[in-house]
Amino acid sequence: MKIYRAKNYDKLSEKAASILGAEVISNPECVLGLATGSTPVGAYGYLKKWYRMGLLDFSRVKSMNLDDYKGLEPDNEQGYYYFMRKNLFCDINIKPENTHIPDSMEPDSEKACSDYERIIEESGGVDLQLLGLGHNGHIGFNEPGEIFEKKCHCVTLAASTVEANKRFFERAEDVPSQAYTMGIGTIMRARKILLLVSGKEKSGILNQVINGPVTPKVPASVLQLHPNVTIIADEDALSEAD
Ligand code: F6R
Repeated sequence: MKIYRAKNYDKLSEKAASILGAEVISNPECVLGLATGSTPVGAYGYLKKWYRMGLLDFSRVKSMNLDDYKGLEPDNEQGYYYFMRKNLFCDINIKPENTHIPDSMEPDSEKACSDYERIIEESGGVDLQLLGLGHNGHIGFNEPGEIFEKKCHCVTLAASTVEANKRFFERAEDVPSQAYTMGIGTIMRARKILLLVSGKEKSGILNQVINGPVTPKVPASVLQLHPNVTIIADEDALSEAD
């Protein structure tokens, strides 16, 4: 694991965007695995800025998002397709047909997940997977459990995840209870992984991810076993890991 200590969230975002941008420059047909949530928004801001400046070209890039809620319409403002359009896709020249997210409207979970796993495989696999870290150690929507899930699957969200995500919804009852997500195995098959972590409230869990045992009870701890992981964290997030 390579760990970069960033002074603050803005520096973390700039560093993350430079790693993503370098991938796009060195491999214009790369497959980027993308994440939603608050943490990557700053990095997406830099990518949009560098695109406007003519420094990046996304015309041949493909993207695979980690996850989406089951049952939310693609134009629902809390859905992840909407999030990605608003925070990145609408302001860069990635082709809509090259952007992929699990099909939230597919009611058959088995089909939604096997279709998504196949789309990832047929793309040649993810070159660089961007991740955020949940308060309970989740990555994608892989919640703490007894096993590491190998493939895309449907999950019932942990109460703490519903709690953390209700800030995006009008009422806690509106947070969907299920989601489709890449599995831990899907994530681990990415050639490179970039984990972003910001804020004091993630310092305890980040310490477990970096220094604790590899266990499905802390899903992100599995990243210790990946050969090419970069963590960019701000000083607050790293305060317990030193
Ligand atoms: C988002 C995702 C989640 C988030 C995690 C952290 O697509 O899969 O695992 O990365 O919940 O969220 P934030 O960044 O909002 O703290």
